[in-house]
Amino acid sequence: MTALSATAPGKIILFGEHAVVYGQPAIAVPVSIVQARAVISAIPAAPNGQVRLIAPDIHLDSLIDELPDDHPLVLAILLTAGHLGAQRLPAMQVHLSSSIPLAGGFGSSAATAIAIIRAVSAFLGRPLSNDIVSELAYRVERRQHGNPSGIDNTVVAFEQPVYFVRGQPFETLIAARPFTLVIGDSGVQSSTAAVVADVQRLHQADPESIDRAFTAIGDIVRQARGYIQAGMIDNLGELMNHNQRLLKELTISSPELDLLVEAALANGAMGAKLSGGGRGGNMIALVSPQTASRVERALIAAGAVHTWITTVAPILGPTEGLGNANNPSSGFPEIRRFIDYG
Ligand code: PMV
Repeated sequence: MTALSATAPGKIILFGEHAVVYGQPAIAVPVSIVQARAVISAIPAAPNGQVRLIAPDIHLDSLIDELPDDHPLVLAILLTAGHLGAQRLPAMQVHLSSSIPLAGGFGSSAATAIAIIRAVSAFLGRPLSNDIVSELAYRVERRQHGNPSGIDNTVVAFEQPVYFVRGQPFETLIAARPFTLVIGDSGVQSSTAAVVADVQRLHQADPESIDRAFTAIGDIVRQARGYIQAGMIDNLGELMNHNQRLLKELTISSPELDLLVEAALANGAMGAKLSGGGRGGNMIALVSPQTASRVERALIAAGAVHTWITTVAPILGPTEGLGNANNPSSGFPEIRRFIDYG
């Protein structure tokens, strides 16, 4: 039986979460130490149109006909088929697995949608460009989150650090010098949609002061872009702390996240803040290679259930042909066909 797999990485937001929903810029980077993987295999004996979806992480094993059309994983399959004009899918099994913590600020919903979109389109023999993959994943995100900015699907689809403004073409962010982050998972699952809706209520109640906070966050993001591009990494720490103070004012932090941020700072981190939807999920700390493991230990002692170390490295920059799934350098390296003798 022929099978095919596609993966998509997680992501973290370095600066600008929530304000990005309201038109301010944000910076996010892919994190490939965690990833979602979709494996598709043909079911030769089954009738056309029969699609079985297996996602053990969420205890799902079902034919897609038995699931609601707006189930995010089903939607990813149907939108891909619709985009390709496939009236009827060949009988197939879609197996989804992921090492990305759910509802944790790692962009797991965008990554699972993207792994599925890539795998299904490649299985149909028509792998899609990163642009289209991103657009389809945005539509899945919109169904799930209501009002997503689009940053998650963009950074996950293109697998590059991005400077992102809602509704505008994204900019690839090139770090002049590498820098290292420790990611700490608070272990608290938090719904991004719920926090985004709460922030919307705050905004409706007091638009002036919330807009002031968002504008201040936008200023931080623009400064951070300059420092990253100039390799002035030491200056990023204070910007992270400032961003965190503003997120706290906006009620987006939580006691667990605050503890982790304090522990990181007390143990040599240059800056620390929550990352993503907030009220739970991840925080990030800017560290030197020397302080990384001390900060990691401090985070675990302060309640983190998992830590990761990731380095944002200089990349070659936007390549011609990015967005072309047939170009091996196009950020589409994981698609491969293999023979499954099972
Ligand atoms: O929690 P995550 O990883 O989905 O990140 C959400 C980022 C927000 O800015 C809060 C929402 C958005 O759509 O940009």
